[in-house]
Amino acid sequence: MERFELAVEAVRRAGDALRASRVEDSDIQFKTGYKDLVTYWDRRIEQLLREEILAAFPDDTIVGEEYPPSDGSGSVWYIDPIDGTTNFVNRHRDYAVSVGCWDGEKPVFGLVLDVENDALYWAKPGGGAWRNDRALSVSRRTNPREMLLTTPGVQYTFLEGHEWRERLVKLARTVRGVRCLGSVALELCELAAGESDLFVTLRSSPWDHNAARIIVAEAGGAICTVSGDPLPITEKSTVLAANSKESLSSALKLLSP
Ligand code: IPD
Ligand code: CA
Ligand code: CA
Repeated sequence: MERFELAVEAVRRAGDALRASRVEDSDIQFKTGYKDLVTYWDRRIEQLLREEILAAFPDDTIVGEEYPPSDGSGSVWYIDPIDGTTNFVNRHRDYAVSVGCWDGEKPVFGLVLDVENDALYWAKPGGGAWRNDRALSVSRRTNPREMLLTTPGVQYTFLEGHEWRERLVKLARTVRGVRCLGSVALELCELAAGESDLFVTLRSSPWDHNAARIIVAEAGGAICTVSGDPLPITEKSTVLAANSKESLSSALKLLSP
């Protein structure tokens, strides 16, 4: 079985397990603090995905959120077993399993499963972006005043006293509306599907965005850091995404001092 087919089957099985799961209080732990959760299920799903991938492709590398990276020389798999753990713990429906496969700087495929809707977003370079069997494309809005902006962490994006706060508030005031799902991967997929026009976060890890960024690009969108630099593949980063290069430039202008 090829990597893509294996990943689709494994991610679908992970989704079945998560939909059937029950989260007890004893399953929940804090990582860096009370807003940073991990559950038995985050770890279980990452273990299952790692085992399946490495059984078939032992030379590949796994970079997942919950365990140290594995050593390997082949393709690199970026795995977020549950993106939106706070939603998952609250039985709020917006959480995802995210798997992005890369050969160095070359994308191979991206898969994001919207678990509760059993909707699989996927893309391969040059093959378009899809939700199950429906082709996706970004919205066509060009005027920021008509745009819907999403951000996965309202508190951090707009309320903390970091250097970007005023500029992000200016962007939020300019657009027509701001929404928050609480999952980087799902919010980027929403942009790819044309359901929002802009996305911003100051905190994202390779496992958060390395699957969905392929889906955004294949749907016609554009992505970079909030400073306008290329989005790194192996490091944590800020992320700004838009429905086109032109909209990305407009957003960067609004974010400039
Ligand atoms: C988090 C979610 C959240 C975002 C955080 C991410 P997790 O991932 O995507 O919406 O604000 O920056 O770390 O911890 O649920 O996998
Ligand atoms: Ca995540
Ligand atoms: Ca996670």
